[in-house]
Amino acid sequence: MKKIIIAIDGYSACGKSTTAKMVASRLGYIYIDSGAMYRAVTLYFCDNHISSTNPYQVSQALANIHIQFVHNPKTEKNETYLNGLNVEEEIRKMYISQKVSEVSAVPEVRKAMVYLQQQMGKKRGLVMDGRDIGTCVFPDAELKIFMTADIMVRAQRRQEELLEKNELVDIEEIIKNLQMRDHLDTTRKQNPLRMADDAYLLDNTAITIDEQIEFVINLANSRMIQS
Ligand code: DC
Repeated sequence: MKKIIIAIDGYSACGKSTTAKMVASRLGYIYIDSGAMYRAVTLYFCDNHISSTNPYQVSQALANIHIQFVHNPKTEKNETYLNGLNVEEEIRKMYISQKVSEVSAVPEVRKAMVYLQQQMGKKRGLVMDGRDIGTCVFPDAELKIFMTADIMVRAQRRQEELLEKNELVDIEEIIKNLQMRDHLDTTRKQNPLRMADDAYLLDNTAITIDEQIEFVINLANSRMIQS
């Protein structure tokens, strides 16, 4: 069967990466978390005091940023490396979430990340999640999913994730952060978050993870046969 590209887009914290990861594992595909790339760039900007409104600093920074995903057999996860350092934990922290939408709205940053993402998809057999995967990175993806969920459900899930990493954050602060990111992500000029015309809507407010996975796998199987 032909290998396809599966693009999973949607709002912050609505379970895109869990779904994408599990679908990739079921199909034996590569999983790429495009949000982790924007988070790694944001971390570099924070550490090196890069101003996202200074074009010279931005282009110098992008020339010095090298992002890799390395499989950790212990955690069974692909972990994010920035210039050779494992930054998987750091990039999930709240201060990065507060700044990532601003950094990812910078046109030069998007151009560089989209280019890298397209290179990763050359061999196909890939599940990538993000905000503009079906609309911009892989407009020809064989299967596009757009995920959403109730804001309270999303905030509770994000709070649990942070708690697992020993970061206790108030639910109100998380809701504000999600709403702020949704707003910035959907209203930015370049590649805003929107549902592709040919995407399937997946609202997971009231369904289980297994049900979500089955929904995507069934569609993927039919696309692989058709392609
Ligand atoms: O998926 P995430 O929440 O880890 O993504 C973090 C931020 O990165 C998100 O608020 C917007 C940005 N992003 C983007 O602009 N385009 C993508 N393809 C993925 C993420």
